[in-house]
Amino acid sequence: MNDTVKTASPTSPTTAGTPAGHTPYSDWLQTDVLHSLQHPVSDHPGEHAWIVSAQVSELYWMLIIKEIHAAQAQLRADDLAGACRTLRRVVAHHEPLNATWRSIAWMTPVDLLAILSCVGPKYGKDTALQGWTYRQMVYLLGIKQGEHLQHFLPQPQRWEQLSKALAEPSLYDDVLAHLGRKGFAVPAVVLDRDFSVPYTPDQAVENAWRDVYADPDEHRELQQLGETLADIAEGFSAWKHLHLMATRRTFGARPAYFGTEGIAWLLPTMNEIPFPELWSARGFIGDPPAVCPHARGQGNARAAE
Ligand code: HEM
Repeated sequence: MNDTVKTASPTSPTTAGTPAGHTPYSDWLQTDVLHSLQHPVSDHPGEHAWIVSAQVSELYWMLIIKEIHAAQAQLRADDLAGACRTLRRVVAHHEPLNATWRSIAWMTPVDLLAILSCVGPKYGKDTALQGWTYRQMVYLLGIKQGEHLQHFLPQPQRWEQLSKALAEPSLYDDVLAHLGRKGFAVPAVVLDRDFSVPYTPDQAVENAWRDVYADPDEHRELQQLGETLADIAEGFSAWKHLHLMATRRTFGARPAYFGTEGIAWLLPTMNEIPFPELWSARGFIGDPPAVCPHARGQGNARAAE
């Protein structure tokens, strides 16, 4: 019996439509390109992990941008159920995004500086503030700080892209416009504002969220939207917390890009929590009406308005 295993010749075509030298898998997922994109500059054995971790974050930020764009289109078409389904995916994407920090949690200051000391001489002085995907995602979440555009002057195409994102409505703006169309009292000063300047929280919007949540059996879909936005804000804030802790662990109080201490620069940004009135309204959502003997003074006043 001939037990020779017959193997295909390395040059034989695989599937119609697949380019020579590829399998359908490598062609579809571009694995050869993907695995050619890591170029360590140091001889530190952990630099590859650092690069992969940052690149995976980049991919997830872009994915979140695309999902938010889709959710905005759905909200503009008043397809609330579709928008909620899309935004649930954004909540899901924050899980692996935030888990990337575990992949570089082994780093001590010695490890980080061994890598960074080789990055500078090859690429120049860098800061993650030059990352446009993160900034575009942040603009879409409604945190509009035009000063960050300066980092993209050397990249005119990205500068234009981000300037456009700065000037356009954020996800929160589209949510508020949808609430307005549903009959909630969202003031024109909120809906027709200059979207490129930082958002100023508005008491009428707080009251709109209070009304959305007032009765658990009414406006259920809008409550689901509110909770999904709260999950997204939590995922985003969790990333910022993990980043801050990684900075504390590996960098301490050293001066960073701007010459100020990195931690001192990062700490105030922890207060950048998307969808402000969705959070502040929780100080009085559910308060009993004024006549109730258990009512509180201030919260009670808002509940009665
Ligand atoms: C563990 C080592 C890290 C340290 C010590 C560190 C340090 C810092 C510091 C000091 C800043 C403030 C701006 C500046 O001075 O450059 C910053 C900002 C930032 N870093 Fe990191 N970073 C680290 C890892 C990462 C990683 C792995 C990513 C993901 C790709 C990242 C993404 C960012 C982003 C997006 C900002 C802007 C944050 C904001 O605008 O609130 N960093 N980082």
